[in-house]
Amino acid sequence: MFATRQISSIAKRAFSTSTSSNAAKVAVLGAAGGIGQPLSLLLKQSSLISHLSLYDIVNTPGVAADLSHINSNSKVSGHVPDNNGLKEALTGCDIVVIPAGVPRKPGMTRDDLFNTNASIVRDLATACAEHCPKAHILVIANPVNSTVPIVAEVFKKAGVFDPKRLFGVTTLDVVRASRFVSEVKKVTTEEAKITVIGGHSGVTIVPLLSQSGHSFTEEEVKALTHRIQFGGDEVVKAKNGTGSATLSMAFAGARFTNSLLEATVAGKKNVVEPTFVKSEIFAKEGVEFFATNVELGPNGVEKIHPIGQVNAYEQGLIDAAVPELKGNIAKGKAFIVKA
Ligand code: NAI
Repeated sequence: MFATRQISSIAKRAFSTSTSSNAAKVAVLGAAGGIGQPLSLLLKQSSLISHLSLYDIVNTPGVAADLSHINSNSKVSGHVPDNNGLKEALTGCDIVVIPAGVPRKPGMTRDDLFNTNASIVRDLATACAEHCPKAHILVIANPVNSTVPIVAEVFKKAGVFDPKRLFGVTTLDVVRASRFVSEVKKVTTEEAKITVIGGHSGVTIVPLLSQSGHSFTEEEVKALTHRIQFGGDEVVKAKNGTGSATLSMAFAGARFTNSLLEATVAGKKNVVEPTFVKSEIFAKEGVEFFATNVELGPNGVEKIHPIGQVNAYEQGLIDAAVPELKGNIAKGKAFIVKA
């Protein structure tokens, strides 16, 4: 049995409702999109969700009606901007996942999305700060290195920022790393657990292959590192102008959300996921946010794991990532602070 102090705020609220068991209200913003739809489908399977709230500027009533027929226990609601839809979608939320925004086309970097997605994320974050200021915010919309600082600044302006509850979703990088290494080393993905640190774009994605327990040739290290850093480009190219990773991202987004639900709602211990959070690791270098493995707990970030031992090659990758990240973070911050 839980000691009272160990029960999270989400769990307490859920225990106090008469209708459902220990479960959370989770919103997906951008729920009708390429990521949003399969992500919502995967989340509909969770017994730790009591209410799945789907918001988009279009098409969510249809997506919600469709998902609502699946016989898992969560209620599903669909919201569009009419009739205070965003307020309805967010009120009472414990977790908000944000895959709203435009994806890349061939030849684009994630930073090229900034002009469009920065204002989408700012507006959604403003609504979250107003209607569910205590919710955990999971940012998928790119460029993650800049959109996470945007959410932080919006929450700071509203006086409700809690750094333990803001996460840039970098799970897809470790999912890819695990799969790619399993192919090269001919092992299962269970046996290919790869730590990836830094940020979520190009050279800011830093795989630490030396910590995996496998040995690699120099060629393997270079090829794998490049593939993990630029794996998203393979999908953008193959989709030939129709978008970027959606299905693998939905898988990764659901994995992270489920881990957070296990830590916050189910009280599970030792839940560790990589994620881009406010971190002291490179704070002295002016890098306010950094992805490392993070232990999740009842209130979100429980413990930020250190980088651990790295070799000279990986140190070089970190040295290249830090200034790039610093610029990306400053750009996001300036978008709100100057506004
Ligand atoms: P999509 O275009 O298929 O879907 C985006 C959805 O957002 C659309 O349904 C659109 O109507 C909606 N939307 C636009 N403005 C909105 C607003 N103000 N409020 C609510 N919804 C709004 O795009 P897709 O493929 O789902 O990608 C979404 C985002 O996720 C992109 O920014 C993409 O770069 C990013 N992404 C992030 C990854 C990561 O690892 N963090 C991986 C892959 C994509």
